[in-house]
Amino acid sequence: MKLLAIFATVLIAVTASTNEDQWIAFKQTHGKTYKNLLEEKTRFGIFQRNLIKIKEHNARYDKGEETYLLGVTRFADLTHEEFKDILKGQIKNKPRLNATPTVFPEDLEVPDSIDWTEKGAVLEVKDQNPCGSCWAFSATGALEGQNAILNNVKISLSEQQLLDCSAAYGNGNCKEGGDMSAAFEYVRDYGIQSEKSYPYIRKQTECQYDASKTILKIKGYKNVTTSEEGLRKAVGAIGPISIAMNSDPLQLYYSGIISGKGCSHDLDHGVLVVGYGKASQWSGETKFWRVKNSWGKIWGENGYFRIKRDANNLCGIADDPTYPVL
Ligand SMILES: *[C@@H]1O[C@H](CO)[C@@H](O)[C@H](O)[C@H]1NC(C)=O
Repeated sequence: MKLLAIFATVLIAVTASTNEDQWIAFKQTHGKTYKNLLEEKTRFGIFQRNLIKIKEHNARYDKGEETYLLGVTRFADLTHEEFKDILKGQIKNKPRLNATPTVFPEDLEVPDSIDWTEKGAVLEVKDQNPCGSCWAFSATGALEGQNAILNNVKISLSEQQLLDCSAAYGNGNCKEGGDMSAAFEYVRDYGIQSEKSYPYIRKQTECQYDASKTILKIKGYKNVTTSEEGLRKAVGAIGPISIAMNSDPLQLYYSGIISGKGCSHDLDHGVLVVGYGKASQWSGETKFWRVKNSWGKIWGENGYFRIKRDANNLCGIADDPTYPVL
């Protein structure tokens, strides 16, 4: 009995030190500092609850009950409510009332699978942190893609310009969020500078657009029909497509194909669909979308994630697809 008690104590100590180690590593990796000890204690408590959630989810994965893994991300010191609060409003989605979306012909043939990252049409993963500017990154991703595919020009484009200069088109600051179609409307009227000439500074400032430094102009943009088949045709025939989705399953995403039980269609995150395909999984083949995020390369699958395709438009993935026309 005594031995058992000692053993239990040792076990608890080991687990605790493991959590402690992971906490230290987490703070180092993500450059986290807290304003005081109490705040740090609260955050460590939340972090440990997330570690339990990760462990339980991944144990289900090992049994073939989940299709993706969770891990410690930069959001691991937040409750899910806090995470959702940060994302809230990042997409200012307007209902598509008078919109005339592109309808692809039913007989338009597109490949069974495609990955535009393998075709050189997707540039490096960027990091929007800590600003709610996902929409700007989604827009530059689609612009960079079309520029690479149609002009063979691979130059990173400026989110900062969109963030600073497109307010008249309905886009807001880091808290208010914005919309990709509004960003494209702005670029249609002004053009866009390179990332290098108008670099990202993680907050909104006064517009410093310099017309002489414009490196890409577009004719306009098109909305895609809001169905997964429409999105597949757009990605297959056009290139990377800007989309908005619900961010619920992304907080602690690590790898694999999100199956997002209970994910709503409340669109709060702008990202870029770069491909689609099928993967072998426990229960046969799983169709997926491959999506580029803007949370840095150390998040998810090197900055990307995959999510189930043809699964009732999971997380609203096909609710707001749009792309620029060069
Ligand atoms: C595209 O959809 C948005 C709403 O998401 C709408 O405001 C916009 O007018 C549409 N644009 C076009 C070109 O249809």
